Amino acid sequence: MPVLTDISRLYTCPPEGGPEDVGAIDDAALAWRDGMVSWVGRRSDLPVSFADEPVQSASGAMVVPGLVDCHTHLAFGGDRTHEFVERLRGTSYLEIAARGGGILSTVRETRDAPEADLTQRAEKVLTRMIAQGVTTVEAKSGYGLSVADEVKQLSVYRALELSASQRIVPTLLAAHAVPPEFAENRSGYLDLICESILPRVASEGLAVFCDAFVEKGAFTPDEARRLFTVAKAHGLTPKLHADQLSDMDGGALAAEVGAASADHLEYISDSSIRAMAGAGTVAVSLPLATLVLDVEPLPVNALIEAGVPVAVATDFNPGSAPVPSLPLAMWTACVRQRMTPAQVLRGVTTHAARALALHRSVGSLEVGYAADWAVVDRASIEAWMVDFAPEAVIQTVYAGRAVYTS
Ligand code: NIG
Ligand code: FE
Repeated sequence: MPVLTDISRLYTCPPEGGPEDVGAIDDAALAWRDGMVSWVGRRSDLPVSFADEPVQSASGAMVVPGLVDCHTHLAFGGDRTHEFVERLRGTSYLEIAARGGGILSTVRETRDAPEADLTQRAEKVLTRMIAQGVTTVEAKSGYGLSVADEVKQLSVYRALELSASQRIVPTLLAAHAVPPEFAENRSGYLDLICESILPRVASEGLAVFCDAFVEKGAFTPDEARRLFTVAKAHGLTPKLHADQLSDMDGGALAAEVGAASADHLEYISDSSIRAMAGAGTVAVSLPLATLVLDVEPLPVNALIEAGVPVAVATDFNPGSAPVPSLPLAMWTACVRQRMTPAQVLRGVTTHAARALALHRSVGSLEVGYAADWAVVDRASIEAWMVDFAPEAVIQTVYAGRAVYTS
């Protein structure tokens, strides 16, 4: 049972507790066994029974639970650098999408890409994420939009999960856009998802969640309701891209269908906030997408005051959030959303785990939880957020094993 000591401050991030409750322990120690935390507390309280156990030193750095990036579009083909430049020149995301760019251009390139290429590329992104302390990554499909291509994207995630350097949580997002071959037959595409894609994905155990993009130009709330009824019958839990570009009552819809989270929420209404608070739905803030699309952030204080747990994630994707850096998303949540570093830390640990229904086993450093953590060369979460510094992470540990050391 190895012991980590010399931790100047450790944050347990308990699953219950207030929005700023990060469970800081100064001069801490942490022991683990079989990939799980077996003891945590002040070093001076370490039981004598640990005296003969192998000791590792955190060299006086701080320790946080392994970060959870609970919203990414991890694997895709092609490149949209030209769109980035066009948007800088003033063309909007929706204008680019309306002429067949945006999501649909990535769909074309993802369909054309061999599965091995998608895997290799996603692996490189994951390597960058691990070096920034991220041990759990949710990963969505949604650039295939056919039975074979959605299965291909989700198979990439299965292969990456087996490489076992971090936890991958797969989400089916077949309702990301209506593919061109169904442009004149939306209900035909809904039929395909409900009658072919969902049953196949469920029978092969390729996804845990079923997400939908509810927005003008994407899917209507009623289409999403139909989809989620089928998804739930197949054992998949709903998630929602909600109220990103306009108020669609998406937060309320997420609450109504029992979604684990509603994500984006830049245009969420007060009534949706109340509905989410009542249902315990996690709000996932995606500050990098907000920044790139240059829109006002979600009303984070209203959500927190209403009692909604707010998670923070990257939304990594080739269009609206091309930067796979959770620490940058954390820093942006501080400076643009006025979240405190403590709120943000809960947002990328226990609240993010809750958005993946994993908050009883992941995202906190308590006994029985996954032995996933990041060693950060800073004195406190506040000190880390001041200068953002992705290189501040000096070690990442997943299931008790160092998967990155600087
Ligand atoms: O979360 N909102 C829809 N989907 C993505 C964007 C995907 C893309 O631009 O390729 C998002 O922002
Ligand atoms: Fe997204």
